[in-house]
Amino acid sequence: MVLFDIVEGLPQGKTLDIAEASPVDNFDATLTGANDYADIKGADIVIVTAGLPRKPGMSRDDLIATNAKIMQSVSEGIKQYAPNSFVIVISNPLDAMVTLCQKITEFPSSRVMGMAGVLDSARFAAFIAWELGVSVKDVNAMVLGGHGDTMVPIIRYANVNGVPVMELIERKYNGDKAKAKEVMAALVKRTQGAGGEVVGLLKTGSAFYSPASSAIAMAEAILRDQKRLLPVCALLNGEFGVKGYYVGVPCVLGANGIEKIVEFSLDAEEQAMFDNSVAAVKELVDSMK
Ligand SMILES: NC(=O)c1ccc[n+]([C@@H]2O[C@H](COP(=O)([O-])OP(=O)(O)OC[C@H]3O[C@@H](n4cnc5c(N)ncnc54)[C@H](O)[C@@H]3O)[C@@H](O)[C@H]2O)c1
Repeated sequence: MVLFDIVEGLPQGKTLDIAEASPVDNFDATLTGANDYADIKGADIVIVTAGLPRKPGMSRDDLIATNAKIMQSVSEGIKQYAPNSFVIVISNPLDAMVTLCQKITEFPSSRVMGMAGVLDSARFAAFIAWELGVSVKDVNAMVLGGHGDTMVPIIRYANVNGVPVMELIERKYNGDKAKAKEVMAALVKRTQGAGGEVVGLLKTGSAFYSPASSAIAMAEAILRDQKRLLPVCALLNGEFGVKGYYVGVPCVLGANGIEKIVEFSLDAEEQAMFDNSVAAVKELVDSMK
């Protein structure tokens, strides 16, 4: 595993720190810190986190000019030294940065994807589990659309081991449907603002652990050919009525990267939210031109 950064000593120090945990955690990986793209030569998978994070009060979109320049050099390095790799982009604004990375690398879209939905869905699932007092292991919940305030939590299919979440919330509040809707609206709002909530607490820097775990879940699905169905920021070619834009949708991830984009019908309310989210993505991406 190679950790790359432009700051000298930083990736070397981080990898040494991780490597020194190996006897405790029982792993024999070779870890290298690098400041030269030549060191990523032949990588199977590249996870891109280069770029500024938000400061309190900033939106992800405020990062676009600075991070686009960074993404350009990173993508060129990947294209030159890891031409057969799968790329998982994490840098924000996510939907724009993954678009740029695919354009510059010219890799097939099945090999260039963004990580947002796994994290946004994990956040939604965590908030549901805490509201209901159940294990996070049993909550299934998915968030689609762009990785911004317009993201679309799919409430209709959220469930706890098959039992619909909305029914469980209604029962918790003695059948009060209005109260249940209010509670769910708060969970959705918290999910949409969850990245900002962490930024607001940290003051400098954004979430680390949950985005890292989410990207690793995607990388494992590809490297181990797991055929997992995960929400992935993928280039759409007519699916969900969208063409030529990266948007978060359910995908099957396996040895060939994005092996399938899985479509399903949205109801009127979900479709309206999805359209709104896609419009925000288009505005953001088109602003780069
Ligand atoms: N997609 C998501 O869900 C998600 C979640 C969390 C963070 N993020 C985004 O990920 C990015 C990184 O966040 P972070 O908290 O790790 O920030 P960070 O500041 O800790 O790390 C970013 C690193 O990028 C490096 N860098 C700067 N220019 C570079 C270049 N040209 N080439 C290579 N590296 C370069 C910096 O030296 C720095 O070490 C941010 O844009 C953040 O908004 C996305």
